[in-house]
Amino acid sequence: MNQQLLFNIQEQFDNYVSQFSLSDPEEQQNIDLKYQHSYQVCNKMKKIIDDMLEGKEAYIAQTIALLHDIGRFKQYQEYKTFADAKSEDHAQLGVSVIKDNDLLATVDPINRELILKAIQYHNKPYLPENESEECLLYTKLIRDADKLDIWRVVLKEYTNQSDNNTVNLGLSTAEKISDAVYQQIMAEEVVKYEDLETISDFKLLQMGWVFDINFGPSFTIIKEKEYIDRLYDTLPKTPATKEIYSKINSYLEQQSR
Ligand SMILES: [Fe+2]
Repeated sequence: MNQQLLFNIQEQFDNYVSQFSLSDPEEQQNIDLKYQHSYQVCNKMKKIIDDMLEGKEAYIAQTIALLHDIGRFKQYQEYKTFADAKSEDHAQLGVSVIKDNDLLATVDPINRELILKAIQYHNKPYLPENESEECLLYTKLIRDADKLDIWRVVLKEYTNQSDNNTVNLGLSTAEKISDAVYQQIMAEEVVKYEDLETISDFKLLQMGWVFDINFGPSFTIIKEKEYIDRLYDTLPKTPATKEIYSKINSYLEQQSR
């Protein structure tokens, strides 16, 4: 992997995405949102790996970042949703798209396999078991970079009050917080998507992603961008949300020690 190969893959990625031109402007917005997300995840990835990886390894990490959500375009075109539970696993779909379009033809087979595995694992509830240290490293990196940028995307939606139903996975606007969501966060667990009932639940799930963050630079970005405070600002202030907010802050404090 080198700079030139990454440029070529970026070009092929752009060409691939340009096929997705939808007549409804609101639908096209969702395609554009995922296109921008792909490049923004690359930027976040560069920040995380700055002091950690260089050369070939840094380009592998950036390729994973660029391609991690390539399944989203077909998913949206076919199902008009980003909810995997209502359609199909977008990571698995992405791996098929990469293979069908030969996007990694110029990458040697060992690195190609690593890239595909990290993409496959990027959205799973847990890290894979029985994988190589190298595979785990790239999987953890993409999981961090992805979350850092999703916080940017959702906060933009929440503060514009645009109520993008697709970003909100079609969840209820009721202010209720589900008990299962509360319990998982208080146990420092990442909340399962299947337990979401309301947009507030989804915001709490997003706050709880801190328990699944792996690298120091990611915690620094969370603090700099004030992601947790800004999410909390959009939530109703109830005893449960206050408790969750303080739980998450004390976890973040532990991490920076
Ligand atoms: Fe994804």
